Amino acid sequence: MSLADVNVISALSDAEIADIEAEVSHLPNRQAAAIDALKIVQGYRGWVSDESLCGIASILEMSTEELDGIATFYNLIYRKPVGEKVILFCDSVSCWISGCDSVKQTLSDTLGVDYGETTKDNRYTLLPVPCLGACDRAPVMMVGDDLVTHLDDNKINELFSAGKTGDQS
Ligand code: FES
Repeated sequence: MSLADVNVISALSDAEIADIEAEVSHLPNRQAAAIDALKIVQGYRGWVSDESLCGIASILEMSTEELDGIATFYNLIYRKPVGEKVILFCDSVSCWISGCDSVKQTLSDTLGVDYGETTKDNRYTLLPVPCLGACDRAPVMMVGDDLVTHLDDNKINELFSAGKTGDQS
């Protein structure tokens, strides 16, 4: 199904539309709210479906292709369903030098997922991400809203062994 085939009627809830319109009201033009509107819908639904994207594009008076390009470029907008928490694993140079490849393998083995995949219990989706701005504490990852630093195999085991939540201190 192409984006052009999606029915935009009722694609968004009244609350989503109200939040987007509130954002638009602060900006010089409707298109300037694109990323914020995507974040708003993702906040309600966990991800941005084709139907939602078309609804947002309609509200912002822009093409679905243009908005999809923005959503695709911005790697914190999820265009597919994700688990309860997204693990953003930094694979940029400082983390690579600090051994992130080995840690990522341990993480994948522990959770049973590779990049782009969600655990069977739907708790975690693992995604690669460019530099998280914490190079001095590499290797690092985000688990949901939490930054986890100085990663090694022991820390992965502590965070994700049976019965643990992945929350970190
Ligand atoms: Fe990983 Fe900068 S390279 S935080």
